[in-house]
Amino acid sequence: QSLAIIGVPFAKGQSKQGVELAPDLLRQRNLTQVLQSVDDRLVINDYGNLKYSVDERLLKQQREHYSHIRNYADFMACNRALIGQVQKMLEQNSQFLTIGGDHAIGFGSVAGHLQHTPNLSLVWIDAHADINLHNTSQSGNIHGMPVSFLLEQLRGTWQHAGLDEIAPNCLPKDQLVYIGLRDVDPYEAFIMNKIGIRAYAMDSIDRVGVPKIIEMTLDALNPQNKIHVSFDIDALDSHVAPSTGTAVRGGLTLREGISIVEALRDTKRVQGVDLVEINPKLGSEHDVRTTVDSGLEILKSMFGYRRSGAWSNIDTGI
Ligand code: ARG
Ligand code: MN
Ligand code: MN
Ligand code: MN
Repeated sequence: QSLAIIGVPFAKGQSKQGVELAPDLLRQRNLTQVLQSVDDRLVINDYGNLKYSVDERLLKQQREHYSHIRNYADFMACNRALIGQVQKMLEQNSQFLTIGGDHAIGFGSVAGHLQHTPNLSLVWIDAHADINLHNTSQSGNIHGMPVSFLLEQLRGTWQHAGLDEIAPNCLPKDQLVYIGLRDVDPYEAFIMNKIGIRAYAMDSIDRVGVPKIIEMTLDALNPQNKIHVSFDIDALDSHVAPSTGTAVRGGLTLREGISIVEALRDTKRVQGVDLVEINPKLGSEHDVRTTVDSGLEILKSMFGYRRSGAWSNIDTGI
């Protein structure tokens, strides 16, 4: 069992400075030691921070087709590099963790995963659906669009992006589940309804509770598939995750977040994880600490921490 970690200090998917600092901040907060303390048999390989370079071809695509959205060329260059990096990490390790950066890197992380493991399911835990198209986005921020690059049914809308070359394998819509939504743009909702995407927004969670949501999520996903969990820290309520660029109140409690992640982990099928959108430049020092602490708790549970204790194999019948 080995876990690869890659930092992706990418901030150009949105307009606020600071998300690029999260990978090194988590390392300063002893990310590897924390994960190691959860599972001492886990071998952890930190690959450092991703580097990328923009080329003339991407600048040309940007000029000719995508100049109405922000930083298309940087987005593609970074994700192209990440797609290669994820494949390399999965050749050398059994699991990987991508630390953002903003959620624009969800494209490269999941796409890289899909190129290594075509039979993949995706659980996108987020206040937002991040499924805008280049011509539906109100903000022009690409961190609101990564899912549209991944889905079989939507990548045609990016016909000038050369997706068939850099990421031929894509995700069928029935292997995507959203959890935690509470700020979906009208056009995003239209797209999701139109293609029929499974989404458990906060109102469904309130109605039936987290255990039922988990059950329905796992029922929906192919049990043979590996799972990618893309966790946007803004899925958590802004009280526990204040330092993020697009905080929305009324989100998951830390306990709900932990429960969801524990259940996914217990399938033993999680092969790739993203943690994105922690912005250490937003809020007070205390806010930043709270947000990073929440992120670390989520990762601990993702990679094996048991709240009932490490040796709790006694079947209590619950
Ligand atoms: N839907 C909004 C947009 O398109 C907000 C997206 C927020 N995304 C995120 N990864 N935090 O700009
Ligand atoms: Mn492998
Ligand atoms: Mn997001
Ligand atoms: Mn979000």
